[in-house]
Amino acid sequence: MRIKKWMILTVLLLSTVIVTVFSSKLILSNQTEIANTTDSIELEQYQNLDQSKSLKTTLRSLAQAQGIQVGAAVLMEPFREDANYRGILTREFNLLVPENAMKWRILHPERHRYDFTDADALVTFAKTNQMQVQGHTLVWHQSLPSWLAEAEWTREEVLELMRQHIYTVVGHYRGQVESWDVVNEAISHNGKMRDSVFLNNIGPEYIEMAFRWAHEADPQARLFYNDHDAEELGKKSDAIYELVKNLLERNVPIHGVGFQMHTSLKKPPNPQKVAANIQRLGELGLEVWITEMDVQIYDGKGTREEKLAAQAEVYRDILRVCLDAPNCKSFATWGFSDKYSWIPYFFDRPDSPLLFDESYRPKPAYNALVEELQGASQ
Ligand code: XIL
Repeated sequence: MRIKKWMILTVLLLSTVIVTVFSSKLILSNQTEIANTTDSIELEQYQNLDQSKSLKTTLRSLAQAQGIQVGAAVLMEPFREDANYRGILTREFNLLVPENAMKWRILHPERHRYDFTDADALVTFAKTNQMQVQGHTLVWHQSLPSWLAEAEWTREEVLELMRQHIYTVVGHYRGQVESWDVVNEAISHNGKMRDSVFLNNIGPEYIEMAFRWAHEADPQARLFYNDHDAEELGKKSDAIYELVKNLLERNVPIHGVGFQMHTSLKKPPNPQKVAANIQRLGELGLEVWITEMDVQIYDGKGTREEKLAAQAEVYRDILRVCLDAPNCKSFATWGFSDKYSWIPYFFDRPDSPLLFDESYRPKPAYNALVEELQGASQ
């Protein structure tokens, strides 16, 4: 029998179809494997709460369609012990921020010893689940090991310690941690530089040096200055604006400013003023990321239901500001379940500041973010 051209073409076509079907099955089963690490009754409850919210309407998939990241800070204890926690984290978020695991005290417990155990576990998990990682944080006046905070140092010694720390940590995660909060909370409420072992021993130029060294250690990483209570226009945000403008003028590698956005019902930031602040930083060529949002409800009015509804509007307003600003590329909350928020411990009073309640049920705040992301695509 003579082999005709059309026969060859048919065979080729059929084999392409078979290979495609087979490989997409493989991909799907891989994805299910990731998801299945978390099967448990509580997680099923969460999925069943709103059947209309299929996997298509997770924050993660919606944010991806908008070209922004949606992130959450992650604590080690629930991460290791609570499958529901990991399940929601990977379904809803595409950016993972170690809440404490990359702070100096944890990563660098002794002068000549680093401990990457926790941070490595988070970075590996993020990569397995196709999430980006925001490294938090290289230079901060808090969460320092006592060997560093409680000793007397010369300028040269602190410079060398800071350089080594940044080189070692950023170098360790080169190519794996896409962005870093290089300097955290260096400015006080009055707009002056905040006291720290770095400022007091090195001088204000420690900021510039930290950015330069982080860039040398990983030239691809996106580098941020991160701070709180400077989301609107005002004394502190003016000082931050001047600081980053000055860094840019001297060609210091800085790519953006993080707005922590820890807030409460009584004093939520004014969306127009936040938008104006994001815009002026954008005019400098900088991105702005919402990095640590949570909304305390203890000071709100009305019933719990009313407070949660008001909380949802604060979240909604800030996400909308971010979606409307071309240079706002990421929206992250400081945790995601009220069960593990830092707020009740830090302020020593009960609260419910996050997107999921203590049983991982999505709150009105979660639904508001979903709606906002859906609205943005219409
Ligand atoms: C907080 C953590 O959430 C707590 O678990 C820890 O005990 C103290 O630090 N701004 C920051 C974060 O940049 O690193 C802080 O995280 C919250 C305020």
